[in-house]
Amino acid sequence: MVVGRRRRSSIALSSLLTLLISLSSTSSAAALPLSTSSRWIVDETGQRVKLACANWVSHLESVVAEGLSRQPLGAISARIASLGFNCVRLTWPLFLATNDPLASLTVRQSFQRLGLADSISGVQANNPEIIDLSLIEAYQAVVSSLGGNDVMVILDNHVTKPGWCCGYNDGNGFFGDQYFDPDLWIDGLTRMAALFNGVGNVVGMSLRNELRGPRQNVKDWYKYMRRGAEAVHASNPDVLVILSGLSYDKDLSFLNLDRPVNLSFSGKLVFELHWYAFTDGSAWASGNPNRVCGQVIGNLNRLSLFLLQRWPLFVSEFGVDQRGTNANDNRYLNCFAGVAADLDFDWALWTLVGSYYLREGVVGRNEYYGALDWNWGEVRNSSLLQRFRALQAPFKGPGLSETAPHKVIFHPATGLCVLRKSLLEPLKLGPCTESEAWNYTPQKILSLKATYFCIQAVEVGKPAKLGITCAGSNSRWDIVSESKMHLSSNTSNGASVCLDVDSNNTIVTSSCKCFSGDNACDPSSQWFKLVESTRSLTATRAFNLLDSILDLPRKGLVSFLSF
Ligand SMILES: *[C@@H]1O[C@H](CO)[C@@H](O)[C@H](O)[C@H]1NC(C)=O
Ligand SMILES: *[C@@H]1O[C@H](CO)[C@@H](O)[C@H](O)[C@H]1NC(C)=O
Ligand SMILES: *[C@@H]1O[C@H](CO)[C@@H](O)[C@H](O)[C@H]1NC(C)=O
Ligand SMILES: *[C@@H]1O[C@H](CO)[C@@H](O)[C@H](O)[C@H]1NC(C)=O
Repeated sequence: MVVGRRRRSSIALSSLLTLLISLSSTSSAAALPLSTSSRWIVDETGQRVKLACANWVSHLESVVAEGLSRQPLGAISARIASLGFNCVRLTWPLFLATNDPLASLTVRQSFQRLGLADSISGVQANNPEIIDLSLIEAYQAVVSSLGGNDVMVILDNHVTKPGWCCGYNDGNGFFGDQYFDPDLWIDGLTRMAALFNGVGNVVGMSLRNELRGPRQNVKDWYKYMRRGAEAVHASNPDVLVILSGLSYDKDLSFLNLDRPVNLSFSGKLVFELHWYAFTDGSAWASGNPNRVCGQVIGNLNRLSLFLLQRWPLFVSEFGVDQRGTNANDNRYLNCFAGVAADLDFDWALWTLVGSYYLREGVVGRNEYYGALDWNWGEVRNSSLLQRFRALQAPFKGPGLSETAPHKVIFHPATGLCVLRKSLLEPLKLGPCTESEAWNYTPQKILSLKATYFCIQAVEVGKPAKLGITCAGSNSRWDIVSESKMHLSSNTSNGASVCLDVDSNNTIVTSSCKCFSGDNACDPSSQWFKLVESTRSLTATRAFNLLDSILDLPRKGLVSFLSF
């Protein structure tokens, strides 16, 4: 009976609530500059800012931000913002800052020397105000256009000598390499930091991309990273100083918590990590996905993720072949998305780029990892982009305590969350922004917070249901398998099942997949992550409001609900 009353009221109130929520969630640009507070990046008001960036390449031979021959700069910047990215990691080669004859070439001259006539006519047509700017002015114009769209920028020193990155022996990998003179590097960082001092949307500098190669060593890492960080801070104290690890930015294990980087300033230090499928070769395609996901996360914890105990860790490159045809990438992405939601780290997608003027000798090369298509006019794969978008908003962090901590039940393969649309409909996947507050109790019950409803297994192949007698084994959910992303229960007649999703996004229970070593098997429909969140919630507000309207004393409700 109470159930029925609640439901009618909630329908009656739903439009009012929708209005309230849309008013309160209108996002506005962060109060810059940014700084750090333990593992969080925060703005001037102390509120968390989650970097949800796209990498935009400007370090190849032409030293022009890619895409300007295909679409107007303003349109690209506006597109970035409309796709929900709040930031761009904009790459640059050191020579742009240290080699004045190069930096003062015009865009036209730079394409001319490379024989890129089509790029000249393309920029002439789409961006006539850029074509005769110098390379450094064109770079500034891109930063400024992004700023005009409230998009923050991280200046990423990607290489020294313009060109595709990163070979083990390409002379750009570590301090002392042919193109990596530490003094020149400090000089370039200093100049770039000074050039953008006072440019509000430049919020950070990545000091050097993917350190690597035969010369890499921990001693020099500390020595030069510290010098680089101090130099940047001295010329521009507003920017976050972002440090890459060794071995292509996958190894930060030498930074154990007792051996920090000694800096003269605080509140600006961020570490960055790169994590792709191919970081682990072809392990994803050839192994059992539960096992590989568990093992890879174990390695990451040891190599880098432990840093989140104290510092922000910016996953500044990750991405997949957006055609969806690379099995290694597809499997990796399901695991990545679970970790990214769970840890709620800052990230930058590789890449925005739809195609390059010239990459590795190929003119007009298509970028299958790119969010935009070859002509930069459309999104390459909108369903995939939806999954990245699901990770853009923070789940938690300083200043975001809109509700008490609770869980959302995140489904990495879709980027959606388990929702209760109404009591009469089965549980479904839907946007995480509409998720209810769930509770995962010590008794392993998945209950709707502040109610007496819990998720129950009914039968193999049938929808899971919300029940109110939560003492039985069909209301207990173990987190199992090597991926720790299966939620397993037993039906009342004793069948072992896992939470799953059918083709209509209805939450069902079915036989658990891929627990044995089967390498051909794909468990991703059964992968869920219980993610801690303090985001404001439609349903929680509805319940709060209803409780007051129905005059249900919350305390009484809570004691009634404690299992
Ligand atoms: C940082 O400074 C502390 C105290 O001066 C010192 O013990 C530590 O070895 C230094 N760490 C590095 C990495 O230089
Ligand atoms: C988008 O990616 C998915 C896999 O995530 C794939 O199935 C689909 O075919 C891709 N679509 C396009 C247009 O490439
Ligand atoms: C399901 O049943 C098995 C076998 O009795 C038991 O080991 C397991 O703990 C049960 N699972 C849950 C979640 O209670
Ligand atoms: C999905 O929905 C369609 C249309 O409502 C229905 O015909 C189909 O049987 C449903 N599929 C499953 C797996 O329930």
